[in-house]
Formats: sequence, structure tokens, C-alpha cells
Amino acid sequence: MSLKRKTRELVERREQILQGGGETAIKKQQAMGKMTARERVIGLLDDDSFQEYDLFAQHEGRDFDMEKKELPGDGVITGTGKIYGSPLCIFAQDFTVAGGSLGLMHARKITKIMDHALKLKVPLIGINDSGGARVQEGVNSLAGYGEIFYRNTLASGVIPQISVILGPCAGGAVYSPALTDFVFVVDKISKMFITGPEVIKTVLGEEISMEELGGAKIHSTITGNAHFFAKSEQECFEQIKTLISYIPWNNSQRAKRLRPRNPKNSFRIDDIVPVDPKQPYDVRNVIRAIADGSEFFEIQELFAQNLVIGYGRMNGQTIGFVANQPIYLAGVLDVDSSDKAARFIRFCDAFNIPLITLVDLPGYLPGVDQEHAGVIRHGAKVLYAYSEATVPRITVILRKAYGGGYIAMNSRHLNADIVFAWPSAEIAVMGPEGAANIIFRKEITTAEDPEKMRKQKIKEYKDKFANPYVAAAKGYVDAVIEPGETRKFLLHALEVLETKDVPRPQRKHGCIPL
Ligand code: HXC
Repeated sequence: MSLKRKTRELVERREQILQGGGETAIKKQQAMGKMTARERVIGLLDDDSFQEYDLFAQHEGRDFDMEKKELPGDGVITGTGKIYGSPLCIFAQDFTVAGGSLGLMHARKITKIMDHALKLKVPLIGINDSGGARVQEGVNSLAGYGEIFYRNTLASGVIPQISVILGPCAGGAVYSPALTDFVFVVDKISKMFITGPEVIKTVLGEEISMEELGGAKIHSTITGNAHFFAKSEQECFEQIKTLISYIPWNNSQRAKRLRPRNPKNSFRIDDIVPVDPKQPYDVRNVIRAIADGSEFFEIQELFAQNLVIGYGRMNGQTIGFVANQPIYLAGVLDVDSSDKAARFIRFCDAFNIPLITLVDLPGYLPGVDQEHAGVIRHGAKVLYAYSEATVPRITVILRKAYGGGYIAMNSRHLNADIVFAWPSAEIAVMGPEGAANIIFRKEITTAEDPEKMRKQKIKEYKDKFANPYVAAAKGYVDAVIEPGETRKFLLHALEVLETKDVPRPQRKHGCIPL
């Protein structure tokens, strides 16, 4: 056969496979408002940057008439590509081919591209849209999942791993996304659960829809499994691209530095924080008043909203911001916000992203619910994550910093590099009202006018402790600064911390309370 003919044969074979599961299956996919796997890969990556591998892979199922079935690409597309010029590896499950179910070869294609990503030290993006373990391939499918989980774990902290849920992701399959760093979901399209509605009905006799059980909103607001919520696949791709622009390719590099820009004048830092510690405000505006171009890319925006996390830039460099959010539960730390903070801090630390922490909180959330939900165990994660982090860590105490919350939010005592405080900062064991009631109880209850005495004692306590100067006198605060000076001081601090190098004792790994 001539090379020309061979080439024509290749083109024809390729064309055949590019049809995926065929017209009917593609129409069904589109009717559900979903793109095909190939459209997704092409739509997400830079133009003409996708190089596919293992297009001709064949499944190895031999039972239940599987040997008679053609499964193009074995239901998954894998390859390399670029986003904003940054190289990465990608796989996308093709639901039009056997429901994107995971058989042995499908899993091998995924593990091969994962190994490739780890070897090249570039981010890995996995687009999940699958009915789960391919039932006909039995234990081979389970083996495939196990091998993916193993690689997710090996790659953790070495390369960024991103999961995009664009269809069902059910049963044990959910654990690969759960092991990755960022999970993206799309309204009405993403479904994640361990046991589906039918099992729940059989075992528990309860009726629940897939959406209510594990839809995009549930995972963005309640479980915290998802980090980004989008209304459409297109919006989701934009979010992924933005994330990629903020993070480095791997743990031995820094994120790309962009041209520095000043914040917009519309975010005037002096006007954002009310002096009355009980008045709420949106801490995201403080971040916008500080960050380059007032740009802030929030992560887990809808989950544990009492704490805000996300990326901005300072002098062009990516910064991880962690901030208490006074407009939600007064910005307390609780079980969920502790998990949210700790995980983010650890990602930033693993990938050389400096941290800026903005503090304004009354402490940990009190109550039986929180105690029984394990606020001790979860709260400990924040202390651990900050203490182990060796990236530059800078704190700005805006207003309240009470009790354990003060210590947890990257205090000097957890070895923060630099701690600034605004003149409105109140650093104390607890709020003045609670403190006065405890230490002056006798004077208050025995006074002729207890209410007057209470007010007087609260004022006395406030005058003495509710300020930054007691902590500044002891060196727990490095500088008390004017709000308007915050960006200038932070830029300087980040510059001097460029050379930070903190050796840690030799150990296999720490034992973070989980
Ligand atoms: C083999 C599967 C499949 C699977 C779907 N298909 N899931 N084939 N193994 N797990 C096939 C269907 O037979 C069908 O083939 C095609 O994919 C499309 O599926 P439909 O059911 O027609 O699609 P839809 O109505 O949209 O329903 C999607 C679905 C449903 C909700 C995902 O297919 C479903 O419930 N599938 C089974 C889910 C499941 O229980 N998976 C195992 C989970 S346990 P044809 O040829 O008719 O087009 C698991 C363990 C992993 O994953 C453990 C790891 C540790």
C-alpha cells in the first residue's frame, strides 16, 4: 500500500473515532444542555494547542458481548494543550461512548496522562462526565479507579490538579475529584454523590432527586466539595482559565508575574471599615482596595461565607488572601470555615504563593452544634496550616481579634512574618462586654446601679485593652499603620520577604488533624 493510501486510511480511521458515540448519543448529550467531550477540550484550551494521545485505544472488555462493541477512544479523550500559553495535561470523559464509563483501557489512558503531567510537572485538568465503573468490566474498573486515586495522591502538592464535573460523577468515582485541588461545577449539569437516589430509596425509603442530593448548588453551598460554581459550561471554562492565570505550573515554580497596577480609586480603604466593631462590612472590598487593579478571584464564594479566600495580585505577583467576613456570622471561625481556610493555606504554601491575612473576628463560633460537629478538630487545622506554612505570611488586623480567633488568624505566635494593625484593632481575650461581665461580676452585681456600673467597667476594659497598642508594646504587632498606608506597607513587606527561607525539622510528613 502506498503512503498516500495509508495516510488516507489514517484520516478515515481518525474521522470515525472523532464521531464519538455517534449522532444519536451526541444529540442526547446536547439535549441535556451539555457539550461533547471534544467540544469541551477544544473550547477550554488555547486555539490549536490540543495534541491528542491514544486516539486508537481499544477497550479490553470480553464479557457480556463487549467484544462486539466499538467504543471510540474507549470513552475518554486525553492529551496536552495550553491555557494562556501555559502547558498542561487534560482528559475528558466522553459520555456519548458507553456513558463515559470507566473500563480498564479508559483508566489506563487517564493514568498515562497523569503520569505524563507529573513527569512534565504541569497542571492536570480532568473533565468528568461518566456513569462510573464500567459494570461489564467488573474488578478491572475498580482497579482503574484505585490507580487514578493513587496518582492523584502522588501528584498532590507537586502539580495543581483541577477537576471539572460536567455530568454525573457517581459512586467511588467522586474520590478522584475529591483528591484534587479545585473542583468546578455547573448548574443543573454537575452531579456528584456516593450513593444515588435509587439506592437511597431502596435502603432508606426516601425519595430525593439527583439535583437535591448532589447537584452543583449543593456542593457549592453545603458540602464544600466544589470550589467554583458556574451557570454554563462556557462560564466554567472562563473560571478555569482565570485560575490557571493565578497559579504556577508546579511546586518548584512561582506563578507568572503580571504587570503591576494600582487599585481602582472606587475602593477607598478609609471608607470601608466602620469603626464600631459591631457594624458589618464586606471585607472583599478591603481586598479590592489593596490588590492590583482591585481584582479579586474568590474561591468557594458560596461555602462558609464567614471566611473569604481567593487570589489577587500585589505588584504583579499572585497572593492568597484569607479574610474574616463580618457580613456573615460576624466573620467567626467555625467547622466549615476552618476547613476552607486550612485547605487554601496549604495549597498556597505548596505552590509558593504568599499569604495575606485580614483579621476581624469575634473568635470561634460558640454552641453545642459546633462543639459536637468537631470545632476543636476542625479549628486545629487552621493553626496547623498556618504554622507549617513557609511562604511569606503577612497579617493585617483590621478590627476585632479576640481569643483563639486572634491566635488562629496567622498571629505572630504562629510565626507570622509581619503583623500590621490598624488603629481600630482590638486585640483581647474576648469582647469588652463579655470580659467586663466576667472580671467585674462582683462589682456589677453589688453596685447600686448595676447597669451603670457595667457600662463603666466595659469602658474601663475597652480603654485598657481594646486597642492595638498593648500588643504593639510587646512586639506581637510590628507596626500600627493608617488604613491608607496598607498597600504600601504590604508591598514593602512582600519585597523584603522575597528571600525568606525557613528550614523545617526533617520528617516524613506531619500529622495534620483531619
Ligand atoms: C456501563 C454504562 C454505565 C456503567 C452508563 N452506561 N453507566 N455502561 N457501566 N456504569 C451506559 C448505559 O448503559 C447507556 O448505554 C449509556 O451509558 C448512557 O446511559 P443512560 O443510562 O442511557 O444515560 P442517562 O439516562 O443519562 O443516565 C446516566 C446515569 C445512568 C444516571 C449515569 O447511566 C446510571 O445510573 N448509570 C449507572 C451508574 C452507576 O451505578 N455506576 C456505577 C457506580 S459504582 P447504551 O448502550 O444504552 O447507550 C462505581 C464504583 C467505583 O462507580 C468505585 C471506585 C472505588
